[in-house]
Amino acid sequence: MTRFTVAIDGPAAAGKGTISKAVAAHFGFAHLDTGLLYRAVGAKVLAGGDPVQAAKALTPQDLDGDLRTPEVAQAASRVAVLPDVRAALVDFQRDFAARDGGAVLDGRDIGTVICPDAQVKLFVTASAEVRAERRYLELVEQHPATSRDTVLADVIARDKRDRERAEAPLKPADDAVTIDTSDMSIEDAVAAAVAQVQKAFGQT
Ligand code: CDP
Repeated sequence: MTRFTVAIDGPAAAGKGTISKAVAAHFGFAHLDTGLLYRAVGAKVLAGGDPVQAAKALTPQDLDGDLRTPEVAQAASRVAVLPDVRAALVDFQRDFAARDGGAVLDGRDIGTVICPDAQVKLFVTASAEVRAERRYLELVEQHPATSRDTVLADVIARDKRDRERAEAPLKPADDAVTIDTSDMSIEDAVAAAVAQVQKAFGQT
């Protein structure tokens, strides 16, 4: 099969990961959660490292740690404003997108910067309150002391930083299809994404 790229962008905890995994499984595509790259760099910085060196030296093993914590998420969005950090991660993402057999990449700038020629571009979003509640339910399982208010504040702060940065800000590509999952079940959101991919995939 030829190359086929699905770009899925959107704000924090919008459901990109769940939708991306389901789309990849449905079509037999590979999936890359690009947020993990920024989280891995953020984790290295929390451990005292230099962000640009960390981004340049990133290895697949670095993506295995416990990167899903709120502290690492905030550190990720702080290193993500640095143009040299972003530049160091471009080739890895583009190589992944160019693999034979199809690829789904999810992040913030996939449809706008990393893969502007992606065959499908989705912008998955939901209200900040809905996204924070979903993230709270994920986090509280492992950390019972998690507070709803803190999670909401974290999500809002991260979105603001991601939207307002000069380099590759979070925004829908002009040709992206927006899926607002505020009032959708996971199944409905996945079905909507699969339908968009099906439409484009059928034409290749
Ligand atoms: O899972 P969640 O939506 O909370 O976040 P993530 O996708 O793991 O991304 C963590 C942070 O990495 C984001 O807040 C962004 O600052 C940054 N990021 C980015 O700048 N560009 C990407 N393509 C992916 C993530």
